[in-house]
Amino acid sequence: MATQATFRIWRGDPSGGKFQDFVTPVDEGMVVLDAVHRVQAEQAPDLAVRWNCKAGKCGSCSAEINGMPKLMCMTRLSNLNLEMPVIIEPMHAFPVIRDLVTDVSWNFEVKKTIRKFKPRSPDAPDGAWRMQQADVERVQEFRKCIECFLCQDVCHVLRDHHKQDEFIGPRYLVYAAALEMHPLDTEDRVSDLKKKHNIGYCNITTCCRQVCPESITITENAIIPLKERVVDRFFDPLKQLFNII
Ligand code: SF4
Ligand code: SF4
Ligand code: FES
Repeated sequence: MATQATFRIWRGDPSGGKFQDFVTPVDEGMVVLDAVHRVQAEQAPDLAVRWNCKAGKCGSCSAEINGMPKLMCMTRLSNLNLEMPVIIEPMHAFPVIRDLVTDVSWNFEVKKTIRKFKPRSPDAPDGAWRMQQADVERVQEFRKCIECFLCQDVCHVLRDHHKQDEFIGPRYLVYAAALEMHPLDTEDRVSDLKKKHNIGYCNITTCCRQVCPESITITENAIIPLKERVVDRFFDPLKQLFNII
């Protein structure tokens, strides 16, 4: 492994910015976040970077590394070509606050627009619910989400078409799927998914699934089943006929 590398880091704020090169020593086992911290400690003490756990679990250190949305703390230098500058940028889908830090608060507002969990009455007099293990396992995958928003960042509907006012994005389609498929939930979100959350904008490119650090099968296990529910409700000709009769 190389003993030093160049890190081309975006520096700036909402008014604009540019890339700045930092050459710094690198050691075996380092991840990109280590290198950014070394640059911050030795060359640029005002470099803004958000992080928390350094273990791939808090979802804070999301950025774009060589053009790919990634967690800085989970991207090993040994997996990058250190003969070229390592390009580190803030996520493109969200407004920059400073340097590598973006304002992801839009996501928390979106979450509030999704109908909440509404459990059925308890099955037993002691207030307990009974659930089939298979039903529990189906939604378990969705609960691994660390809200890193890398899937939101890569989604072209948000990133390129800026449909933030209309489309909730893959993270919140996963959230809606976790609620819709929950064995105890009685709420109905199908109409909202079509009319308010505009699931139809998703054309199942699977880009979101490919960048998810938790390997959640976003498109196949969350989005497609939700789309099927929408199609069944609004576009099934037999159901349409039944409704007319
Ligand atoms: S599959 Fe759908 S939600 Fe995921 S990135 Fe593509 S368009 Fe966006
Ligand atoms: S679904 Fe995956 S990529 Fe999207 S926010 Fe959750 S953990 Fe991150
Ligand atoms: S610092 Fe927590 S996920 Fe990277």
